[in-house]
Amino acid sequence: MRRGECSDSRDEAVVLGIETSCDETAAALVRGGVDVLASTVHSQTELHAEYGGVVPEIASRDHSARLLPLIDKTLSKGGITLDRVDCIAVTAGPGLIGALLVGVQAAKGLAAATSTPLVAVNHLEGHLAAILLEPDPPRPPFVGLVVSGGHTSIYRVDPGTPLRYALLGRTRDDAAGEAFDKVARLLGLPYPGGKAMEAVSIGGDSKAIEFPRGMRGRGLDLSFSGLKTSVRQYVQEYGVPSGPAMADLCASVQEAIVDSLVEKAISATGAVGLDRLVVSGGVAANKRLREKLARVGRDAGVTVRAPRMSLCTDNAAMIAAAGHVRFMAGETASWGLEPDPGWTLE
Ligand code: KG4
Ligand code: ZN
Repeated sequence: MRRGECSDSRDEAVVLGIETSCDETAAALVRGGVDVLASTVHSQTELHAEYGGVVPEIASRDHSARLLPLIDKTLSKGGITLDRVDCIAVTAGPGLIGALLVGVQAAKGLAAATSTPLVAVNHLEGHLAAILLEPDPPRPPFVGLVVSGGHTSIYRVDPGTPLRYALLGRTRDDAAGEAFDKVARLLGLPYPGGKAMEAVSIGGDSKAIEFPRGMRGRGLDLSFSGLKTSVRQYVQEYGVPSGPAMADLCASVQEAIVDSLVEKAISATGAVGLDRLVVSGGVAANKRLREKLARVGRDAGVTVRAPRMSLCTDNAAMIAAAGHVRFMAGETASWGLEPDPGWTLE
């Protein structure tokens, strides 16, 4: 079935995805779980930049002001009226409670007003489902690495409707994105730090400074707090460099984070005897991570797939894709749905 054709079958269901778990307000329309009719993301980066991180109260207020107009814009971009939407999928956790509440309340209101089924989506499942929006997505079982600002977790993903997840490893302290953000802040770089550090790293020598790779060779859990401390000590001793020395410092930090993620993710595939790896989440937009994972994966006989960059960072198309799978499985949420800020994926 091609875009623009009509069908009443559930397979071709049009899902409206809504995402407000952190600092992106997003809505998307996805047909048949694969065809993105429209995807709109409003990033609050500028609002939080002066604080060097997300301020929860500011995030919820901005979601409240922007979500409904953004949904309207998405519907008109997709050429779909609300009464043609078959299912509304909303991120119900994990995330900031106030931010999640805005999306969940809006989704419940729209669903109730139009008698449309509602599906609750786990944000991390959404990140993994982003790969379903790419051509020829890998079939489970595979290993899934979710690397975002709030999470760094490795899952075994098994077939089923919906898919089944088993946690293989996770960070013991900071998430990889959080490590980028905190180090960037120490270095006076703007929020979000991952993107800023990647830009400054260009041309830098990634071997200039040897930063720690937390928990190297010890199981599948990760740790980034030692790296953060080590950068703080470096800056206390030498100050924040500029020019090429700053590029060397950022490239060295980036390499330490990338090495940890690559080592653990590829080890995880070996540990469970799988040869497919999917990486997603905001940090998966990092070019160095994508390249090194692909190369080390190839050497280890592992096929590595990552969604296109715009689907790695927070968006609602991935929420609609994950919601479609659950809707097809006959799963719907009640009108009493409440967000769960600590919702784990298992
Ligand atoms: O998935 P995401 O958009 O939001 C959460 O669910 O947290 O991830 C945001 C995180 C931030 O920590 C940001 O610094 C990081 O992803 N990030 C990057 C890049 N783009 C975003 N980290 C490294 N390199 C990038 N290009
Ligand atoms: Zn995310």
